[in-house]
Formats: sequence, C-alpha cells, structure tokens
Amino acid sequence: MTPYRPTPAQIAAATGGEAPACAFLHDLDALRRQVDALRRPLPAAVDFFYAVKANNDPRILRTLAPRVSGFEVASAGEVLRVREAVGAQARIVMGGPARTADDIRLLLANGVERLHVESPHMLRLADAVARQAGAILPVLLRVNLTGPVPGATLTMGGAATQFGIEQGMIPQAIEILRDCPGLRFEGFHFHTVSNDRDAAGHAALCAVQLGLARDWAATHGLDLRIVNLGGGWGVDYADPAWRFDTEAFARALFPLGVGAPRVQFECGRIVAAYHAAYLCEIVDLKRSHGHAFALLRGGTHHFRLPSSWGHDHPFVVVTRDAWPHPWPRPEIAGERLTLAGELCTPKDILARDVPVERVRIGDRVCFLMAGAYGWDISHHDFLRHAHPDRHFFDATDRSGHAA
Ligand SMILES: Cc1ncc(COP(=O)(O)O)c(C=O)c1O
Repeated sequence: MTPYRPTPAQIAAATGGEAPACAFLHDLDALRRQVDALRRPLPAAVDFFYAVKANNDPRILRTLAPRVSGFEVASAGEVLRVREAVGAQARIVMGGPARTADDIRLLLANGVERLHVESPHMLRLADAVARQAGAILPVLLRVNLTGPVPGATLTMGGAATQFGIEQGMIPQAIEILRDCPGLRFEGFHFHTVSNDRDAAGHAALCAVQLGLARDWAATHGLDLRIVNLGGGWGVDYADPAWRFDTEAFARALFPLGVGAPRVQFECGRIVAAYHAAYLCEIVDLKRSHGHAFALLRGGTHHFRLPSSWGHDHPFVVVTRDAWPHPWPRPEIAGERLTLAGELCTPKDILARDVPVERVRIGDRVCFLMAGAYGWDISHHDFLRHAHPDRHFFDATDRSGHAA
C-alpha cells in the first residue's frame, strides 16, 4: 500500500499563481479509509480515540469524528479545538503532564469525560477543583512502567521520563485517590512507547499492561472499568509502503474477544500520517564543499518531523516544464542531494545526501507521509516566512480548496 501522493490535477489545483509553491495537501478519503482499516480488526467493544496532537486541523477532526470513538486531548486549547470543530457531542478524554487548575476547570466546563492523572499532586489538585465545582471527575491513573520495555522510536514509560506515575508508586496513588471524593477511579492508562513497528511485541506489551491493571484492581478491591493502552502503533518513514500489522496485533491481544474492563486506544501517528503530502518548490540549487543542495520554499518551520527525528523524509520529485527566465535552467542529475529549507540555520534539512535522478529549479519536492506531527509540531513563525497553503481533497469536492 502506498501513502497518499497527490495527482497532477491536485497539484495543479494547489499551485496556481506566480509565487513558488508551498502547500500541505490532504486526501480526506484516504484518511477515512485509513481509520476504517485500523478499526476493522478490533473487537467492536474496544474504544478507538484519535490523539489530536498528531494533527488538529478542524477538517481532519470533522472527517474523523463519525469514525472514531472520540478524541484524546493534551491541553485546554485542544479541548476547545475539538468542541469548535466537532461540537458538544464529541467524546473527549484528556491526558498529559503538567495540568493546572485552569485546565481542570475548563475540562469540567466542556464535558470532557475523563482525566488521565499523572502524579499524586495532580490527583489532589483535580479533586480540589472538582469538589469546588460540585462535580465528580472520572479518572484513570497513568502508569510509568518499571521497564525495561521493548524498543520503539519514542519511549514515554519504562524509563526515566516526566510521564505517568511510577509503577512502584501506584499503590500509594490508589490510597491518595481513596481520599478524593471529587474523583472517581475508573482504571489505568498506559502510553508507554510511540512508533512501535513490532505488532506482536506491542500486543505483548499491551497484554502485560492489561494484566497489571487487573492485578492492581484485584489487590486493592477496585472496580476496574477501563484500561487505556494509549497509542504508539508505528509507521515506517524509511519504507512508506510498510504497514503496522493491525490484524496480527488484534489477534494476539484479543484471542478470545474482549470482556471487562473496557479497552481503549488513542492513536495519532498511524491515523494521520499517510493521507497528507507537503509540497515545496525548489527555488535554488547549489554546491557547497562537494555536496549538492536544493533550497526549498518551505522547511522545518512547517515540517519539523525529519529534523526532530534526524531522518531523511521520504519524497518524490514532481517535475515542471515551465521556465520563465531568459538564462539557462540550473539542474543537478544523477547525484546525491540535500534538501534544505529557507531558514537561516544549518539544521533546516529535510533529507540529506539522498540519490536523485534529476532536479531543476522550479521542480517540486513532494514529501510523503506528512499528515502527523508535521505542521503541528513546527515553529511556524521563525523568520516569519509565509505559511504554506492547505488543500483538502474529498470525493465530494475533487477540485479541493485552500484554507
Ligand atoms: C498520552 C498520549 N496518548 C496518545 C499519543 C499518540 O501516540 P501515537 O501518535 O504514537 O499513536 C501520545 C503521543 O505521544 C500521547 O502522549
């Protein structure tokens, strides 16, 4: 299966005008197909939330709303984003460290159904704010496993991180919770790794986490209603056709289907990565110290993912015949090329020393798998370059439209 690659008609719709092209292009049909394919192997009783942090564009949220159980948010801003985009009915659960009293007031006022609590202080703060509001707030305790845990690209648990409550302190957190009449214990939350490409290994990790949750509930006499196993299902930027084996994952984790407690997932990357491309025009070509460089209209201020992960982001070159200048058109052929952005920093690199057949000034580079943690994690206003255009293509509107 290949990720979304815009058609010539879509590129034409997205690149009119004099200025060099710079745009995110999204295929909303592909997004629908993706989330449906992810959910299909899971038992119907499993909740599948979308982690809004991967891409919070309102059109993405509206496209996903009828197809996911709800939305996982990590800030007050994301709560408001979901409410504005999707309305009052959307289910929202909230996680993340460093919660404030204002966050908790806002989540209570906006019908967030559950808070994932990450520390003893957060328990006491949430309890105080809920009682002040005359509310009882359902909570999950987020666990940071003792570890070690299997490898993935990012590790949130099983290691020294700022996330969750250490596994050894869970009994203490349960005792604190007993003294919190403003809170209702509903279960445990685990988001231990991100971008795990080993479906069998991820299922085994999830099974261990489910077992721990059941053991704690039995030992402490708790009514265990929910275990949230986080996100973390992987993608492979080095091999865009590769897919996380959701079927094998579901078979391994749910060999006999599901009963109580209710299992939840909150995936971001695997939902949003594939359906979008980031298109940048080559505005200059040069050589420096023996290496060839293409300078792009765009860069890591729009798409920080490759520099954040230190990888060469997958791309295709979209050639263009038009050349408006009277001088010869510069080109580089049959060489290794570095794709650099328009920022004044040597870190503004999207792919380094990658082989290309031929590129010319005025051609476009189309980065694939650009839908998750791309624009949303980037420092958009550094140097105040113009933001990219945005185009959303849909079966009902093949021409697309800019935001
Ligand atoms: C608490 C939590 N849940 C879910 C996610 C989504 O993870 P992923 O995009 O790996 O599926 C994240 C991302 O880091 C997270 O921090």
